[in-house]
Amino acid sequence: MTNSTKFWAVVPAAGIGKRMNADRPKQYLELAGKTVLEQTLLRLLQAAVFETIAVAISKEDPYWPELEITRHEKILIADGGKERSNSVLSALKAIRDRASDNDWVLVHDAARPCITPADIHHLINNLLNDDVGGILALSSHDTLKNVQDGSILGTLNRIHIWRALTPQMFRYGMLKNALEAAEGNPAVTDEASALELKGLQPKIVEGRPDNIKITRPEDLALAQFYMEQQ
Ligand code: CTP
Ligand code: MG
Repeated sequence: MTNSTKFWAVVPAAGIGKRMNADRPKQYLELAGKTVLEQTLLRLLQAAVFETIAVAISKEDPYWPELEITRHEKILIADGGKERSNSVLSALKAIRDRASDNDWVLVHDAARPCITPADIHHLINNLLNDDVGGILALSSHDTLKNVQDGSILGTLNRIHIWRALTPQMFRYGMLKNALEAAEGNPAVTDEASALELKGLQPKIVEGRPDNIKITRPEDLALAQFYMEQQ
């Protein structure tokens, strides 16, 4: 790494939170006195490594302009897209005049407010000299079954199975190319999968189990509990 290599954060926050089944997108639900999105952005700001945090927001989003954090000097807004990968690509394009191909980008879900600055540094320190980059991930504690039509076909070897979390950390140029090449491919549900389609092999770095993604209603109380414990 040269001293001029910069770090950028991208936060996809343009989803509707269908599985949460709430009166507004889940990133605007209240968590420990702020919105989920503000808690997430504050954690990224606390890491104190990013030039800018580019946040993808839906064009029809009436909640974002109400937040004080919109005016923070490190925060830049981009238009959200149809799928998460479209939102990420849009945010990458919003920093294209300032980011170099070799800079690192950390993409982090708006819906993961329990990320710790220490875990962000753990990811960076492990991947800084890597050619491809990688992701925070967790091993599975449960035995995993391959199931079809309600019947078990077999048991997966847990050693080979990891759960993908965020942040996911890649070089700006490589990530943008991979997402552009994969546009419209429904199999691309995270950044790593776009690089995998290019034949690359991103690394995994073991993350903290409290870095949950708020997905269903019961997750909000769990996130609150984790935040209090941290
Ligand atoms: N996201 C996005 N643009 C989209 C879809 C999702 O920026 N078109 C963001 C979400 O806001 C979230 C992250 O991607 O921060 C992870 O996606 P997910 O947990 O699936 O959120 P939603 O798509 O909002 O939830 P659901 O799938 O339940 O509708
Ligand atoms: Mg979704």
